[in-house]
Amino acid sequence: MAPTSDDSAAVPVRLARIGGDGIGPEVVDAAVRVVNAVCDDRIEWVGAEMGWRTFERTDRALPEVTVEILDNCAGALFGAVSSPSHAVDGYRSPIVELRRRLDLYANVRPLKSGPIDTVVVRENTEGLYAGRERWEREGEVAIAERVISRRATERIARFACELARSRAARRGRGARLTVVHKANVLRRSDGLFRETALDVAAGFPEIAVEEQLVDSMVYRLILEPERYDVIVAPNLYGDILSDAGAALAGGLGVVGSANCGEGFCLVEPVHGSAPDIAGRGIANPIAAVSAAALLLERVGFAADAARIDELVAACRKSGPRTPDRGGAATTEDVVADLLARV
Ligand code: NAI
Ligand code: MG
Repeated sequence: MAPTSDDSAAVPVRLARIGGDGIGPEVVDAAVRVVNAVCDDRIEWVGAEMGWRTFERTDRALPEVTVEILDNCAGALFGAVSSPSHAVDGYRSPIVELRRRLDLYANVRPLKSGPIDTVVVRENTEGLYAGRERWEREGEVAIAERVISRRATERIARFACELARSRAARRGRGARLTVVHKANVLRRSDGLFRETALDVAAGFPEIAVEEQLVDSMVYRLILEPERYDVIVAPNLYGDILSDAGAALAGGLGVVGSANCGEGFCLVEPVHGSAPDIAGRGIANPIAAVSAAALLLERVGFAADAARIDELVAACRKSGPRTPDRGGAATTEDVVADLLARV
């Protein structure tokens, strides 16, 4: 289709694709093919690299040129990187560094499976992962400080409320926000998180707001996951809830997540580089495809994102299954099934 000058939809959105290591490139390639089949020529993909292989070749896990490419893109689809299990001089996880450099403060993990349709929104920049650790008493005691700021809590709460609002509009039903904390014990830090998040949510009268202590949150999420809509939590709680939720929603091979900042979004499958199956053509591409749908939604292609979610749901229900899902299908079989449904 020839682009026309008066049609803004004909101007492609530029997105980066970063395969990384192990099965990363295999599943990213699969996801790009599905996106292109749905979006035609409205996406322009730019390749970039990072990870362990990049480090071995260039001494940098995250090359500056990759950061420059990302600066000129609306978002990125990332596969996975391998990290050595021992400390290696000069090596730092490029994904952790990117989250910090691009200020990707919201980690978003949708959990969709049967009646479950929930999103965990995790604060991604502070909390117990602020990295403030020290020794006391000559190494006999280790102390970790937990940082909760009003500013970071305000922006994660606002992000969660806006997400709840747009989900409600899309799904044609009321929005619910669950604020997770442990303010009965951590009175100041979680107290500030609780109070700030509830204050922000009060500015969204159409959202039904509730609060839940983190331990009972895990319990209830497992017992009745279908009752939740958007869940917002500080860093560590959100991390744990996200992974518990991933198990509920079908496992590593099918769940994607997004790291969002003000003007940029980096999405990834929840799984790692799976070196045990890399190169064998049997990686499940569904997690990467679901991640790509999240990216499309963030860059304004909500209808295409919904379309991909439908394809994925249909494929999960009646399509071929890779070995992690108990079948014998290949990555290519799953991609072919998704493409046939387009
Ligand atoms: P992993 O997620 O790579 O693999 C765990 C198990 O799940 C393996 O048996 C693997 O074969 C299987 N698996 C994962 N994704 C799959 C898929 N799409 N289809 C079928 N099976 C799949 O986690 P693991 O083994 O702990 O870590 C391997 C490497 O990945 C490590 O170097 C680790 O540092 C890295 N990693 C990277 C992440 C990232 O880049 N965001 C996240 C987690 C781990
Ligand atoms: Mg995690």
